[in-house]
Amino acid sequence: MVAKTKKDFDGLKAIGKICGEIRDELVHSAKPGISTKELDEIARETFEKAGAQSAPKGEYDFPGYTCISINKEIAHGIPKRKRIIQEGDIVNIDVSGSKNGYFADTGISFVVGKGETTLQKICDVSKEAFDIGLKKAKPGSKKNALGKAVHNVAKRYGLTVIKNLTGHGVGRSIHEEPKHIFNYYTRWDDEILKDGMVIAFEPFISTSEEEVFQSEDGWTFLTDESFVAQYEHTIILTNEGPIITTV
Ligand code: CO
Ligand code: CO
Repeated sequence: MVAKTKKDFDGLKAIGKICGEIRDELVHSAKPGISTKELDEIARETFEKAGAQSAPKGEYDFPGYTCISINKEIAHGIPKRKRIIQEGDIVNIDVSGSKNGYFADTGISFVVGKGETTLQKICDVSKEAFDIGLKKAKPGSKKNALGKAVHNVAKRYGLTVIKNLTGHGVGRSIHEEPKHIFNYYTRWDDEILKDGMVIAFEPFISTSEEEVFQSEDGWTFLTDESFVAQYEHTIILTNEGPIITTV
């Protein structure tokens, strides 16, 4: 969407804050021994208390309130009782939701306790790619400048990006125009970013593979060999600078 009114900005910020709080709460609670289902229960309660709805549950009938993916699961991992978090796991928590018709989407990958240095590295690089890409997220700039920045950061560290998972427009629904914010440069993707445009920007940094595939459960995206880290926020692009709603 393109946010125009104070109501738009307030609505986007309100749901952004809720999703950001749930993300942080789940990251904080993701200790060895807890199941991904238990984490998801915390999210359910917080969504309820806040009078907000989970987007994957409400929009896609996903079997969970949040997506929690561990190790070779890259995205859309289903919370399960038997999926227990272990020391050294790389975990991705993705929280998206809506309130009063406004949506937000945020995610983060992190290592539980002490993990392999490569895992911590890809988490750090996903955040750096986000920060550097964010500088290109200006009205008047081309959309493909974001992907170019993300891919360049990855390459600088001897890493790459996932090409078939992308950022997207958000705001009045969870996925809307612009349909894709790629994490690599494509010349034809030269749409001009507009004042008030709302996007979910989400670099996926990978150790080697550039594509994920869907698991037999119909939801989870996996890799064979690679480890992948994602970092995502919902952003309102404005002439005065980007507003991150999901801080
Ligand atoms: Co997300
Ligand atoms: Co997203």
